[in-house]
Amino acid sequence: MKTAVYYQSMTGNTEKLAYAIASALPAGTSCEAIEAGTKSDADLLFVGFWTDKGTCPFDCAEFLSDLDGKKVALFGTCGMESDEAYYNGIISRVSGFIPSEDQLVGSFMCQGQMSSAIKEKYVSLLEKDPDDPRAKKMMEIYEAGIGHPNKEDLLHAEEFAGKIYDSLNNEAS
Ligand SMILES: Cc1cc2nc3c(=O)[nH]c(=O)nc-3n(C[C@H](O)[C@H](O)[C@H](O)COP(=O)(O)O)c2cc1C
Repeated sequence: MKTAVYYQSMTGNTEKLAYAIASALPAGTSCEAIEAGTKSDADLLFVGFWTDKGTCPFDCAEFLSDLDGKKVALFGTCGMESDEAYYNGIISRVSGFIPSEDQLVGSFMCQGQMSSAIKEKYVSLLEKDPDDPRAKKMMEIYEAGIGHPNKEDLLHAEEFAGKIYDSLNNEAS
């Protein structure tokens, strides 16, 4: 079962998950950044994305839309704290790009530190109104995200990948 990892990452969070996932897969499993036109000949693909307005970015959506007859495991990072319902919503939107000939075999999401540009936005809103409830909440989320994905997140990502690979490999043999 040829297996490969693909990811789209802007500031490095999702890339960290991608390499952790690849480390849990057979030696030599490739780990490749998705670019316009990326194609795959693998049977099992771990596809990672950073969350952009509630879904995956464009190149990742294009890559997923083009798959045919693959097993796909999704993974991603997003700015929000661990919230299964929120994570499930993202996975459901992203999995909508996967054609019906493919099979979604699992998913994993975790928080990823947001860029300082996002922090500046909330700092400036709080300067105008220190009681702005939304800005206060977003600032809390920003602070909770610092350092993510952390060691524990990476360990969970490795476990996720190992379990999926083992169960599909056992099925195949
Ligand atoms: C333009 C933009 C849009 C974003 N949209 C969302 C979003 O809708 N939901 C969310 O939880 N995080 C959102 N984020 C946060 C990123 O998904 C998060 O920080 C992610 O870990 C970045 O991953 P990367 O380092 O691999 O690029 C957004 C960030 C940017 C810059």
